[in-house]
Amino acid sequence: MAAYDPLAAHYDAVTGDCSTESAFIDSIISCRQRRAVTLLEVACGTGSIMARLAGSYQVSGLDISAGMLAVAREKLPEKTPLYQADMSNFELGTTFDVVLCVYHGINHLPDFTAWEGFFDCAERHLSRGGLLIFDMLTIRDLEMMAAMPQIVQHCDDSRLVIQVRASDEMAFDWNIELFGGPGDAGQPLLTGVIRTASFPAGRVRTSLSRRFPRVREISSGGSLVDADSENRTWFACTKDGPAR
Ligand SMILES: C[S@@+](CC[C@H](N)C(=O)[O-])C[C@H]1O[C@@H](n2cnc3c(N)ncnc32)[C@H](O)[C@@H]1O
Repeated sequence: MAAYDPLAAHYDAVTGDCSTESAFIDSIISCRQRRAVTLLEVACGTGSIMARLAGSYQVSGLDISAGMLAVAREKLPEKTPLYQADMSNFELGTTFDVVLCVYHGINHLPDFTAWEGFFDCAERHLSRGGLLIFDMLTIRDLEMMAAMPQIVQHCDDSRLVIQVRASDEMAFDWNIELFGGPGDAGQPLLTGVIRTASFPAGRVRTSLSRRFPRVREISSGGSLVDADSENRTWFACTKDGPAR
């Protein structure tokens, strides 16, 4: 069972609206790959971002969790391709103008070999001139989260309590407890541990530069992005060749 399977039915309730995030992503694509038509979201989860982008792009999604993909299926246009696969090692036999991986999907890969596996897969699945966009939590971001007693996300009548704890220099466990729903008696509806990792931004940049001729770090400051997004570092990497 994938780590997110038990969370799938509750995920949207605790993550809330993603319109600001989707608008920010759309603005990056419009600025750097204006003619993009096809888009693959990797670690797409329950598909909320894809559903918003589906009005502008032909979207496809990939995730390791069958539970998350089942929720995504319900909100996406019929016949949207959804793939259950590991983002560090996949082969779909097609290419896309944009490969996207957001909400720190990459931090779920436990070691740098897996991060580089993802960069290779993304590069291989991009059309010429295509764009990889992803965000990551830096080691510093995760250390700051680990220094907090807990992080609480409220939405509607659900409450997700997260305690981030370092398990080594670059690995951080997210201990989660979900509360809420009718008849909440103070007992969590579910508990779990999500493993995350991060690596120095310089190492990430060097690795990307070996695969992509243009690598840009994007500031998420400004009015388009909410406070949560400002804690993440965004990359936009362009594959060689003329854009579509
Ligand atoms: C924080 S959620 C992000 C979901 C979505 N991108 C969003 O914006 O809501 C992380 C997602 O990464 C997926 N994931 C974790 N490890 C993965 C892997 N190795 N390959 C593919 N997906 C993975 C999880 O199943 C989960 O759906």
